[in-house]
Amino acid sequence: MSSYRDEFYRDPAIYDLEYRRLTEDIDHYMGLARDAGRVLELGAGTGRLTLPMARTGAEVVALDLSRAMLGRLKERLAEESDLDVTPIHGDFRMLDVDGTFPLVTLPFNAIHHLFDAAEVTELFQAVQRHLDRGGRFALDMLVPDFRFFERDPDGVYELRRDKDPDGGEMRSWENGWYDPIAQINHVRYHFERGDGRTQTVEVPMRMWYPQEILALIRQARWRLLRCDQDFQGTPLGPHAKKLVLLLGKRG
Ligand SMILES: C[S@@+](CC[C@H](N)C(=O)[O-])C[C@H]1O[C@@H](n2cnc3c(N)ncnc32)[C@H](O)[C@@H]1O
Repeated sequence: MSSYRDEFYRDPAIYDLEYRRLTEDIDHYMGLARDAGRVLELGAGTGRLTLPMARTGAEVVALDLSRAMLGRLKERLAEESDLDVTPIHGDFRMLDVDGTFPLVTLPFNAIHHLFDAAEVTELFQAVQRHLDRGGRFALDMLVPDFRFFERDPDGVYELRRDKDPDGGEMRSWENGWYDPIAQINHVRYHFERGDGRTQTVEVPMRMWYPQEILALIRQARWRLLRCDQDFQGTPLGPHAKKLVLLLGKRG
């Protein structure tokens, strides 16, 4: 079974609307890109982080499996033609890009699109093959939170009202259900568009418990350079909602 479901990524305008307020990670990835000068970004999407990283002067190779998301990224690049960004259509589960990089990133929870430990191990090995000697791998993910898993599958959570890109007011909310055996949170996003259309998209997100990921990191022989709970560099603690990692290639 393929773990990739692209429903959520078929409408980049909606994706951008949903996440336009998300800025907490931008400085973090910009700083890493500035230091590295050259970045391979996995799951680049519409460029929410790609463009800020490229604005530091870094060269960014931006890989994504969704042609719709990449299409929007290309439109944005056309508006900022001085940026050095190469969009690539590809699958990070079979990563094979020319050259090596001082920095590879897998930002904004994209690791939740990998469903089993073998996929994570394969990704870790592939990233190591794409890193320069001494290169670094930066990623972030959610820490599983049981309060989310106890939600009413038909409830209304995180209700938002926005201007619909096609006109009128758009309402959106979330609910879903959690499979505790597969550790998959089936998040359902509901949209009620300005013209009355309704749409529901389900995004299955494989939740990784921190100790699971740390075991896979040890097994892959990464150097654990940073293990934080936020983008300000607070070390991981018992109330963490995020896991923000910086890994170094050995040898
Ligand atoms: C949560 S979005 C993050 C997008 C962007 N980096 C951001 O921060 O807004 C995850 C992205 O990963 C992409 N993606 C998911 N699975 C993928 C895969 N196997 N290979 C390449 N891209 C993938 C999706 O198409 C989507 O654009």
